[in-house]
Amino acid sequence: MTSFAAQPKPFLHALKGDTADRPPFWLMRQAGRYLPEYRKVRARAGSFLDLCYTPKLAAEVTLQPLRRYGMDAAILFSDILVVPHALGQELAYVEGEGPKLAPIRTSADLKRLTTGRLHEVLGPVYETVRLVRAELPEEAALIGFAGAPWTVATYMVEGGGSKDFGHVKRFAYGDPGGFGELIRLLVEATTDYLSRQIEAGAEAIQLFDTWAGALPEDAFRRWVMEPTRAIVEAVRKKHPGIPVIGFPRGAGSLYEAYAETAGVDALGLDTAVTLDEAQRLQKRVTVQGNLDPALLLVGGEALERAVHDRLAALGAGPYVFNLGHGVMQATPPEHVGALAEMIRRWPETRKGL
Ligand code: CP3
Repeated sequence: MTSFAAQPKPFLHALKGDTADRPPFWLMRQAGRYLPEYRKVRARAGSFLDLCYTPKLAAEVTLQPLRRYGMDAAILFSDILVVPHALGQELAYVEGEGPKLAPIRTSADLKRLTTGRLHEVLGPVYETVRLVRAELPEEAALIGFAGAPWTVATYMVEGGGSKDFGHVKRFAYGDPGGFGELIRLLVEATTDYLSRQIEAGAEAIQLFDTWAGALPEDAFRRWVMEPTRAIVEAVRKKHPGIPVIGFPRGAGSLYEAYAETAGVDALGLDTAVTLDEAQRLQKRVTVQGNLDPALLLVGGEALERAVHDRLAALGAGPYVFNLGHGVMQATPPEHVGALAEMIRRWPETRKGL
């Protein structure tokens, strides 16, 4: 039986639509280069991929931000591109340039990919999940994650980051059947990958669709909403009740349709979503977000005002405080501390309003 007493994790409560005297919080990219202790472990690991595939070190960096700031959730330390890597696509993270992959641009290129070694390559990630769960403070929850098929496909087809998504759109619009094969493969691999994370101890999952906003409506429905719905449905079949957060960054006026079709428990909101719109969406699902990461970089009064505005507008409904995108590398660690304090003090602050 799951009762309030048996489930002391505020983050999981919020994902199920409950409210509390203050919202739980965590930050996208809360582990990373803005933290000196991360940079130390990262240097010891050698390459970024080595860090992702070394469970002891990956577990350590997963827990670092919680030790400093007491977030209500840890997010598994890994990357969305380990899935294409495990499907056999060559991948390297080039210092200062980001990820580089040997591009997959046609149906014929798809033959280079196979699910045969998926769990062999990703085994260390599941081990990281087990290690983190064993060490996690009991009131904190562990989030597993994957990239959503569209966003992962953009990197696979472009061969890295992109400004105009020319190659991936050429494939998707020019050969929807062939591109559909790639998306189907990603739906299958991502479903298995997330299921294994849950079996290893992940208590909620987030699907990152960073480049969802690059697509017009019909393509958004086909390549963002549909594959996400398929993954959520398949994961829930194996793991009923697992909370799912969808983050279709840049979805704009399609956020609501996404939430409904994909069937997510919570919606990650990017910085462009207004607080009015967030309140409207909050009537249907838990919302998460959407402080501008640049405000966390700047700190001071601008940060305080924006944090306060979000807590006041969204704190009474089902809400998870977060950023609208990841923590920026130049963010002073003490600004994150100030943010954590503001959220913790919110029940007192609210009384004084
Ligand atoms: O703390 C966390 O949020 C967990 C770990 C995490 C990372 N990447 C670690 C990482 C998560 C959830 C991600 C997701 C991810 N990765 C996304 C979706 C979210 C987003 O930010 O839009 C995307 C698009 C990627 C792909 C990716 N990984 C890029 C484009 C880059 C290079 C950019 C950069 O910041 O260097 C990465 C590398 C990466 N992933 C780093 C980290 C900490 C930096 C690598 C390093 O330490 O050298």
